[in-house]
Amino acid sequence: AKEPMRVLVTGAAGQIGYALVPMIARGVMLGADQPLILHMLDIPQAAEALNGVKMELVDAAFPLLKGIVATTDVVEACTGVNVAVMVGGFPRKDGMERKDVMSKNVSIYKSQASALEAHAAPNCKVLVVANPANTNALILKEFAPSIPEKNITCLTRLDHNRALGQIAERLNVQVTDVKNAIIWGNHSSTQYPDVNHATVKTPSGEKPVRELVANDEWLNTEFISTVQQRGAAIIKARKQSSALSAASSACDHIRDWLLGTPEGTFVSMGVYSDGSYGVPVGLIYSFPVTCSGGEWTIVQGLPIDEFSRKKMDATAQELSEEKTLAYSCLN
Ligand code: NAI
Repeated sequence: AKEPMRVLVTGAAGQIGYALVPMIARGVMLGADQPLILHMLDIPQAAEALNGVKMELVDAAFPLLKGIVATTDVVEACTGVNVAVMVGGFPRKDGMERKDVMSKNVSIYKSQASALEAHAAPNCKVLVVANPANTNALILKEFAPSIPEKNITCLTRLDHNRALGQIAERLNVQVTDVKNAIIWGNHSSTQYPDVNHATVKTPSGEKPVRELVANDEWLNTEFISTVQQRGAAIIKARKQSSALSAASSACDHIRDWLLGTPEGTFVSMGVYSDGSYGVPVGLIYSFPVTCSGGEWTIVQGLPIDEFSRKKMDATAQELSEEKTLAYSCLN
């Protein structure tokens, strides 16, 4: 039998946490044959709710779940973890300045970076979900210099899945037949959902999405804004932000990272830029990647047209500004 892996979920008493921990315990993230020990961290004000989540995990009698650590102590939470899913953060509240929210999150991610660096298992893989996700991941990377930068990522898989979902709905096909959409850049409304390389499996072979969606105008306008604004649309409808889709996409992100992407398929991940596609080095930016042997690789050589270039640069620009703001909060 396999040794259990330790998976940390921060902010585990929150909405995404409540959707995510049962998925992990069911084997959705690591595979149905991988036992695990769940580490759940939240802040003292949420300790009682966190304990309630722990009680429900016990009650659900998950066969793969070999242990639960529910704590408000960041060191205990980080000790020995192989995978860290960082969902905890400070939300923007009415009347708050961007800088104030950034400042709170920078200080959270700075201290959690140190705890992970000192106490996580070697080669721990980190996924930052909490917003501003790219910049929180960048701060985590900067303050955990001994964690390889390849191991620090942020979630844009939800946006990626949203793009696949919109194409599937539009063409009235199964979402599993659509692949290779790309989310470039920031997990924010400046992200660029790009379908120029996306394909659909049809009875007569794989076809480019651009060929099947006869209406280019829709792809260049409404499709993009629908994906960019989907988070806001969910809040409007549900009066709460997306949680089940975020949780499911976080499982997709880690599963593909650890277990690999299928041949010929790429997915979107926020990773540390190496300068590919002219994206400035030093940003955590969402790229198309393939995964194998527990490592992601940016897909190279995709042709980029002028329309795409502008949008990729605009979201990079926003990330540079976020980075400057984050650094100004450190001083
Ligand atoms: P929530 O407010 O329900 O839960 C957040 C939890 O984090 C709370 O239980 C809170 O007590 C906890 N927390 C706060 N500071 C903490 C700290 N220092 N250490 C540990 N826990 C801490 O929020 P929800 O809906 O679960 O969302 C979580 C985050 O995920 C938000 O930042 C949200 O904007 C982001 N998000 C990101 C998405 C993505 O695709 N990247 C998609 C959806 C949400």
